[in-house]
Amino acid sequence: MRVLVLNGPNLGRLGVREPGVYGTTTYAQLAERLVALGGELGLEVEVRQTDAEHELLGWLHEAADAAAPVVLNPAAWTHTSVAVRDACAMLTAPLVEVHLSNVHAREDFRRTSLVSPVATGVVAGLGTSGYELALRHLAQAAAPVTG
Ligand code: DQA
Repeated sequence: MRVLVLNGPNLGRLGVREPGVYGTTTYAQLAERLVALGGELGLEVEVRQTDAEHELLGWLHEAADAAAPVVLNPAAWTHTSVAVRDACAMLTAPLVEVHLSNVHAREDFRRTSLVSPVATGVVAGLGTSGYELALRHLAQAAAPVTG
């Protein structure tokens, strides 16, 4: 099963970006780790990041057309973008919203997510392991139930 791991603005700067908040793992290390974990879980994981909203919208449309599950860290667009939320609402496979930081323990404006109401589930505050948990969930959710 193909899974898209999509990341919004400024996440390409992980590792150097406010390491006290977002950790020291670089985006390249995170992407590599998620692809490797996907291999272990039997998932074909594609990790992408963009600072251009229209590009993220295109990827979400692609996921909707392919009925592919999505792990999404919308970053700042979480709190601002009706367009990202509307694109998420078109998805038919599970959508897991991930935030590295605990957005509920930070500034007030980060407590509102336009995406959460249309997400299957949300992981926040667990750092990069939030992405790993999201992939483990998707693999488990897709696995046939055995008795
Ligand atoms: C973030 C939290 C957002 O509020 C912020 O704008 C980000 C990253 C996180 O992963 O904790 O860019 O989504």
